[in-house]
Amino acid sequence: MATLDDAALDLLFREAHTAHTYLDTPVGVADIERVWSSVQWAPSTMNVQPLRLFIAESERTRAAVLEHLSGSNHDKAAAAPLLAVVCADTDFHLTLDRLVPHIPNASDIFSDDERRIRTAREQTWLQSGYLILGIRGAGLGCGPMLGYDAAGLDATVLEGTSLVSLMVLTIGVPDPAGYRPRLPRLANHEVMLRR
Ligand SMILES: Cc1cc2nc3c(=O)[nH]c(=O)nc-3n(C[C@H](O)[C@H](O)[C@H](O)COP(=O)(O)O)c2cc1C
Repeated sequence: MATLDDAALDLLFREAHTAHTYLDTPVGVADIERVWSSVQWAPSTMNVQPLRLFIAESERTRAAVLEHLSGSNHDKAAAAPLLAVVCADTDFHLTLDRLVPHIPNASDIFSDDERRIRTAREQTWLQSGYLILGIRGAGLGCGPMLGYDAAGLDATVLEGTSLVSLMVLTIGVPDPAGYRPRLPRLANHEVMLRR
């Protein structure tokens, strides 16, 4: 069976950090499209794929996103080569005829708003983990941020869409000098409960 070698494991996990500062190297939509060509294969329940990546490409959109960050998160996002918002599409059910062709009327399963929105958020989180790994695998780095005004961003930047934001994401070629010291991880026995 094929396995990742040490260099790949280091890149994805062991030497990978959350990025806080980036080199000046430009990173654009073409880089993210390359990342997504792999990340698109992430699993999601029933193959619903609710993640949408809202890329703040124009200066205007970038400024609109930045308005909802403050303090160090604002400064890090303002300095990042690329700024995006990971969103969940609460209308993901409208794509299910195409994505779930083997289940007739699959969208009916999500006719209940509460269930559909919960599924959109949960499955976007799952896809987000793959996105972070995909970004790392492409030799880039990213900084996920929950420290922003989500209600404000959703009501302005995402107004009129079916999207809800889950996190702001800075992306670029990371400057390792900006890595924070590794925080402790749980021990195996705390995570793996053998009964
Ligand atoms: C969903 C999510 C939200 C986060 N939000 C913030 C944030 O708002 N500001 C920040 O500086 N770091 C944020 N972080 C970074 C975490 O603190 C960091 O990933 C964790 O401490 C592990 O650091 P390491 O990747 O360098 O080992 C966030 C990380 C994740 C995954």
